[in-house]
Amino acid sequence: MTASDSKVTVPLIRKKKERGEKIVMVTCYDCPSARLLDEAGIDILFIGDSVGNNVLGYENTLPVTMDDVLHHSKAVRRGVKRGLVLADMPFMSYQVSAEEALTNAGRLVKEAGVEAVKVEGGAAVAPTVERMVAAGIPVMGHVGLTPQSLNLIGRYRVQGKQPDDAERIRADARALVQAGAFAMVLELVPANLARTITEECPIPTIGIAAGPHCDGQVQVFHDLFGLNPDLNLRHVTRYAEAGQTIRDAAARFADDVRAGRFPASS
Ligand code: KIV
Repeated sequence: MTASDSKVTVPLIRKKKERGEKIVMVTCYDCPSARLLDEAGIDILFIGDSVGNNVLGYENTLPVTMDDVLHHSKAVRRGVKRGLVLADMPFMSYQVSAEEALTNAGRLVKEAGVEAVKVEGGAAVAPTVERMVAAGIPVMGHVGLTPQSLNLIGRYRVQGKQPDDAERIRADARALVQAGAFAMVLELVPANLARTITEECPIPTIGIAAGPHCDGQVQVFHDLFGLNPDLNLRHVTRYAEAGQTIRDAAARFADDVRAGRFPASS
């Protein structure tokens, strides 16, 4: 094993911040995609609750269940050798009580083999984070835009533009550090706020639509590789047009079958 082949662990993710090495995280929902991302050297393979809108056909992440995340986490786990496997805790799997959160996080570790979990929120979830960490479960936090609060915030929009809002997000970030989170996602916040939080927090920040100053970046698989070809998001750069490639290939296959060219006669 070379250094870049070595297994990614929670302590290694923390060390990357100290060393000034950027952390790369991509969402992943199935085994073949996990294998490809892992072979490409992605550090964190993340079963996001965005499985709801990217795979299950929901409009948002709110309907996603523990069973959904468990099912997809097991598939991802089977495809990964090197990367850290991180699972999202779906809406209402950790908000009711710290006990229920612990039970659900424990299921993700024991039944699906994930190595860490992620929860949305800052100060409000800090006691729950503390409880899970005390039980030996590494937790990643998530502040700024928290999609599970969609009904409260009305629509997905930049958070932390006003000074008091920015202050609240900084306080949330500090609460996660205090509670023992090993890293946090910063979503849809101004780049200068992300820079401030990154500088004042000892744990890695992983940004999405939060500018270039975070310790790492996370992107959604389907956005990154063009599998939502009709969706154009400002923060996304497509590294492949897999959606278009599949659509064209499927049309060529259909033409060949209809024209009697497939299968070729032997
Ligand atoms: O579920 C998800 O895809 C996420 C990312 C936006 C970080 O939480």
